[in-house]
Amino acid sequence: MASAEQIKALLKSHISGDDTHFLSVAMQVAAHEAKLGHGKLAVDLRAMIDAAKIHRATDAVTRKPTPIGQPRGELANLFEVSYPQARLSDIILEQSIEDQLKRIIKEQRNFAKIRDHGLHPRRKLMLIGPPGTGKTLTASVLAGELGIPLFVVRLDSLITKYMGETAAKLRQVFDAVRDVRGIYFFDEFDAIGSQRGLANDVGEIRRVLNSFLQMIEQDESSSLIIAATNHPEALDFALFRRFDDMIEYGLPSHPQIVALLKSRLAGYSKLIKRWDDIAHQGEGLSYAEITRAAEAAIKDAIIHNRDAVSKDDVMRNLEDRKSFHSRNHAPS
Ligand SMILES: Nc1ncnc2c1ncn2[C@@H]1O[C@H](COP(=O)(O)OP(=O)(O)O)[C@@H](O)[C@H]1O
Ligand SMILES: [Mg+2]
Repeated sequence: MASAEQIKALLKSHISGDDTHFLSVAMQVAAHEAKLGHGKLAVDLRAMIDAAKIHRATDAVTRKPTPIGQPRGELANLFEVSYPQARLSDIILEQSIEDQLKRIIKEQRNFAKIRDHGLHPRRKLMLIGPPGTGKTLTASVLAGELGIPLFVVRLDSLITKYMGETAAKLRQVFDAVRDVRGIYFFDEFDAIGSQRGLANDVGEIRRVLNSFLQMIEQDESSSLIIAATNHPEALDFALFRRFDDMIEYGLPSHPQIVALLKSRLAGYSKLIKRWDDIAHQGEGLSYAEITRAAEAAIKDAIIHNRDAVSKDDVMRNLEDRKSFHSRNHAPS
């Protein structure tokens, strides 16, 4: 049982609303129980405390301080937490990228060992590449493989809606990075990494970028920070040396298209003997577009009460995606 002193300290911190102290006393109680040989209770207590910390970090970023007149829902969009189950086998990649990810996972799994030798495991990553090539999926896969939460930070909404408050919000994000181990994913990073685009106030964007540079430089936590962008050419040069790894994503090539189609059509592809023509038809499309075409082909088959897709189903849906793609990606 917890000591009388611990119970008093718990009550006192609860009454004064000092959450940080409350959780630290709770940790002492857990440690105390572990020492007494109450292993199961200690584990349960620690899990409850960890969950409370995650909850608090999410709260800190999404809720406090609520600007007057700003609906909470919009603030909540800045920071979303999830517990992805995705694994490396769910993503199809060029071998060199897969090797890079495996290496990151290995270093993370040996985090303490590497740190004990005075070295730093890779944990600040920049993912570069066109839409639909697996950047967001990579963040999920890393979270799934490492069993840690994924916090998605939406920088575009952070900046456009809260000009002037962005640096303060960023501070809160980095506080969470320090306090709760997780993957912190800065999607559409060019929103702050460049001076173009959203910058109707260039000075403000510059200030935000400078705070980001400072915060990422100072960060020595055990979290992973992942930035993703479709526009590396717009990024400020000072950013690049702050990251441990740059990973470049591209459209799938022939063997990757075949692998993706086989995996997405699994269970429905028994009529397809040769994949070459189909893969050829998919060239120029992203992984996301090919995935959608495969799903559309399966839906067509289901609607017509067929238990497998035909080659034509897939070819037609890829063709549809292609014309959609060229309409929407016309060179300007
Ligand atoms: N490399 C990939 N391997 C397998 N599926 C992929 C890959 N890239 C994208 N997809 C599919 O497309 C969807 C959207 O991809 P996403 O990771 O959001 O792309 P990005 O973040 O690069 O724009 C994914 O959820 C997945 O279904
Ligand atoms: Mg994405």
